[in-house]
Amino acid sequence: MIGRDLYLMKPSLTRPPRSSHTFETILDTIGGTPLIRLPEGFDPKVRCEVLLKVEAMNASGCVKSRISLRMVEAAEESGQLQPGGTIVESTSGNTGVGLCMAAAVKGYRAVIIMPDKMSREKVDMLKAFGAEVILTTTGVPPEHPDHYLNVAKRVAESIPGAWHADQFENPENPNAHYLTTGPEIVQACDGRLDAFVGGCGTGGTVHGTARALKEHDPNIKIIGVDPPGSVYAHYWETGELPETGPYAVEGVGDDMIPGTWKREVIDAYEVVQDVESFAMTRRLASECGLFVGGSSGMALVAALRHAYTMNEDERMVVLLPDSGNRYLSKIYSNDWMKDGGFLPQVPATQATVADLARDRPRATLRTTDDLATAYKHIADRDVDPVPIVAGDPDDPKAKLLGIIDNEKLARHLAAGLDLEALQADSCLAPAPPVIDPAAHWGALQEALQEHPCALIQDTKGYVGYTRRDLLRSLARLSHHSDD
Ligand SMILES: Cc1ncc(COP(=O)(O)O)c(C=O)c1O
Repeated sequence: MIGRDLYLMKPSLTRPPRSSHTFETILDTIGGTPLIRLPEGFDPKVRCEVLLKVEAMNASGCVKSRISLRMVEAAEESGQLQPGGTIVESTSGNTGVGLCMAAAVKGYRAVIIMPDKMSREKVDMLKAFGAEVILTTTGVPPEHPDHYLNVAKRVAESIPGAWHADQFENPENPNAHYLTTGPEIVQACDGRLDAFVGGCGTGGTVHGTARALKEHDPNIKIIGVDPPGSVYAHYWETGELPETGPYAVEGVGDDMIPGTWKREVIDAYEVVQDVESFAMTRRLASECGLFVGGSSGMALVAALRHAYTMNEDERMVVLLPDSGNRYLSKIYSNDWMKDGGFLPQVPATQATVADLARDRPRATLRTTDDLATAYKHIADRDVDPVPIVAGDPDDPKAKLLGIIDNEKLARHLAAGLDLEALQADSCLAPAPPVIDPAAHWGALQEALQEHPCALIQDTKGYVGYTRRDLLRSLARLSHHSDD
């Protein structure tokens, strides 16, 4: 089967590539990111059309590749950056990644200065491109010598032939969006657009895009988005700088007003809490297949709030700045989310056993399964305890015989026994208490005072739960009296 027939059989595999061009370097692919529709019903209260500009599909996985290339080319044209020179930048990471990608292609040295709250993945990516990375203390005030901008200025002065890209003051930052992001949106929308929503870090994306959109149609509403603790939303509303505070979302918000942020282009500001941003980020991945970063979730929360005020025949574009790859150890890690209190809390008075056990992995064995399988569930998937049943393990009503005896299993391993040759029932310990998932969570705590573990029996079968799980998941409960 060839050609058209094959295409008809498997359209998603044989569709022609997005672009049939060949390119000299990765830099030639920058821009041209798609607008993807938010699925109908994602938020039943929304009537307008919501289109997502997915910058995760940009080179370097981020919107910042646009400004990186533009700033480097302008510096080359003006002679500030000469062959063999050094690019220095202060960045929350993504502009650094874009600049280092350009440096790798064009043969420059790159030195990147970033606050130490940024994800490990971003630091590793910068190093992969061959950059030198200097981490500075997060949260020091802008006038402090250890503030990342001040460190970058000193580093740039100390290296002969160094050029400080300075995305916070460089007009080529908003210009890049004026020349690419804005026109791309107008073109993809056939000129019909009512609102644009984007978060502000330097403000360059919203500023440059807004300029292009408003030139096309001054009625397009521009909505800026801020995390609480950043200065922008408050300054936009009052013209005064508020006290700053901590927030966990990366790449957006600031503690000062840089030259690249423009109050006049913005028609409304929304503030979004980290908890909401991260929950929405995870929904984008699990419900839309869009593996994006925390500032994307933040932008969509704000966008949906604004969308409630829009009509059926109106259209909104929301910019999703970067890929989820760089947040695997954060937003996409349940442990990190729990530690930060980002998973929604349940009032302690109402919480059930199911609320504490909702994301525990499960596995049930039959007596004849081998111990190597049991070990894999325990060691690789963190299932503990592993129940053993008589009959079919997929039958939620199968008779419970007991659990894998972890201590005995450890002795078998220490002795070098072949676990594949041993059956699960050779390592059987008595069943611990079995708890109803609808019971108040206190029932689980009570059971675990007497036993190191318990099983929760729900409609799908058994879920193992230990004292350690209890310690971890208790952070999900809120004890405020107003809950
Ligand atoms: C992840 C992420 N989102 C959003 C932004 C905001 O972009 P801008 O600096 O153009 O305001 C940035 C900027 O660094 C970012 O890294």
